[in-house]
Amino acid sequence: MLLEGKKLLVTGVLDRRSIAFSIAEEAQRAGAEIVLTSFGRVMSITRMMAKRLPHPPDVLELDVTRAEDLAGVREELGRRWGGLDGWVHSIAFAPDDALGGRFLTTPWESVATAFRISAFSLKEVAMGLLPLMQERGGSIVAMDFDNAVQAWPSYDWMGVSKAALVAIVRYLARDLGRYRIRVNAVSAGPVRTMAARGVPGFDAIQEEWARRAPLGWDASDPSPVGKTVCALLSDYLPATTGEVVHCDGGHHALAYPLPEQDR
Ligand SMILES: NC(=O)c1ccc[n+]([C@@H]2O[C@H](COP(=O)([O-])OP(=O)(O)OC[C@H]3O[C@@H](n4cnc5c(N)ncnc54)[C@H](O)[C@@H]3O)[C@@H](O)[C@H]2O)c1
Repeated sequence: MLLEGKKLLVTGVLDRRSIAFSIAEEAQRAGAEIVLTSFGRVMSITRMMAKRLPHPPDVLELDVTRAEDLAGVREELGRRWGGLDGWVHSIAFAPDDALGGRFLTTPWESVATAFRISAFSLKEVAMGLLPLMQERGGSIVAMDFDNAVQAWPSYDWMGVSKAALVAIVRYLARDLGRYRIRVNAVSAGPVRTMAARGVPGFDAIQEEWARRAPLGWDASDPSPVGKTVCALLSDYLPATTGEVVHCDGGHHALAYPLPEQDR
C-alpha cells in the first residue's frame, strides 16, 4: 500500500467536508497511521468526525498561534512514534473584514491574523516538528488555491496569504532539503467546506470552475485532493520539493473554457 507504515499528522479536520478529512481517510486507506489536530471549541466536533474514519485516530490540541500546543504535539508524537514521516498543513483563517471585497480598507491587525494563521504557521509547525523528522526525512504538504497567481473576487487577504504560503513552501524546501524533508503544496479547485463558506461568491467560482475544467470538477467531492496529498506524502515523488501540484481538473491550464461542442 502507498503509505504502509507511515506515521503522519493531519491538521485541519473541522468536519466531514474538510479537505483534511478526505486526506485522513485516503491516508488510512493507503495504510498510514495518523493522528489529527484540532483546537478550541471545535475539538469536540473533530473528535466526533474522527470516529467516522476507517480507524478512529486520536485528536491532539494544536492552535497554531500557541507555542505550548506545538510543544505538546511534538512531545506526544515523540512518545508515541519516536519520529514522524510527514504532516499536512490544512489550515486557513481570515477575519471577515479581510475577505469579501474590503481589500482596500482591511486593517493591519486582520491582515496579520490571516497571514499568521494561514501562512506563517507552516514555518512555525515545520520547525516545531523538525526534531521528529530530521533523522528520517519525510514530506510536508500545504494547501493552496490557484497557485496564488491571480486576484479573485472576495478572496482578498486570503489570496495574499496563499501567495505567502507558496513562497514559504519554497523557502522551507530550500532549508529543509538537507534533512531530506520535501515541502510541497497542492493547489486544489474549490471544495464546499466551512472555510469556503466564508468566501462570498464561492458558488459562482465553483460553477465556472466545473464548466471550464477539462476534466470537470465537483466541489462537493474532496477525495481527488485527498489522494493527491497522499501521493506527495508517499515515497513516489522522492525528488519533488518546492513544488505546487495542481488538483483542479486542469482548470489552471486553459485560458478560455472549452467550447460546448468539445465537451
Ligand atoms: N475549500 C476550498 O475551496 C479550498 C481550495 C483550495 C485550498 N483550500 C485550503 O485547504 C485548507 C483547508 O481548508 P478547508 O477548505 O478544508 O476548510 P475547513 O474550514 O474545513 O478547514 C480549515 C481548518 O483550519 C483550522 N484552523 C483555523 N484557525 C486555526 C488555528 N489558529 N490553529 C489551528 N487550526 C486552525 C480550522 O479549525 C479548520 O479545521 C485551507 O488551507 C484552505 O485555504 C481550500
